[in-house]
Amino acid sequence: MLSPEVVTELLSVEEREEIEAEAAHYPVRRAVCIDAMLIVQRHRGWVSDESLGAIAELLGMSTADLDGIATFYNLIRRRPVGRHVAMLCDSVSCWIMGYNRVRDHLCKQLGVPMGGTTADNRFTLLPIVCLGACDRAPAMMIDGELYTDLDEQRINTLLERCE
Ligand code: FES
Repeated sequence: MLSPEVVTELLSVEEREEIEAEAAHYPVRRAVCIDAMLIVQRHRGWVSDESLGAIAELLGMSTADLDGIATFYNLIRRRPVGRHVAMLCDSVSCWIMGYNRVRDHLCKQLGVPMGGTTADNRFTLLPIVCLGACDRAPAMMIDGELYTDLDEQRINTLLERCE
């Protein structure tokens, strides 16, 4: 169990304020546990063991419970990522519409396998389930922005935009 002082050290003022603002909407603090992890992830890019422990303490949960939820929820990243995160949809419509070709091109351009981070820490490439853009497949997200109708040329343009 972490002391309030340690929680204060492990989470920034902004992170704690945003989590508390979410928690104020619910009678049970643990109801915002996914939002709380997403808040920390938005600030830091991922959720470390230390951050996870501090969030659990802040919400009155056990670290094991919160870790179980983080593991189940695939948008929570428990490992460091690059400056940009590309998430390629691997669900059925995208698969039919050229997922393999798009994936191979992305991996070749970035020089990493799916799940990998480039040596210069510029990109992490991750799989994601359906992005709700099946009629414009194949689709991916880069840093939370949706991009559709992917082909090799479009991918090159999108990657070049990211420093
Ligand atoms: S299957 Fe890829 S966006 Fe729906």
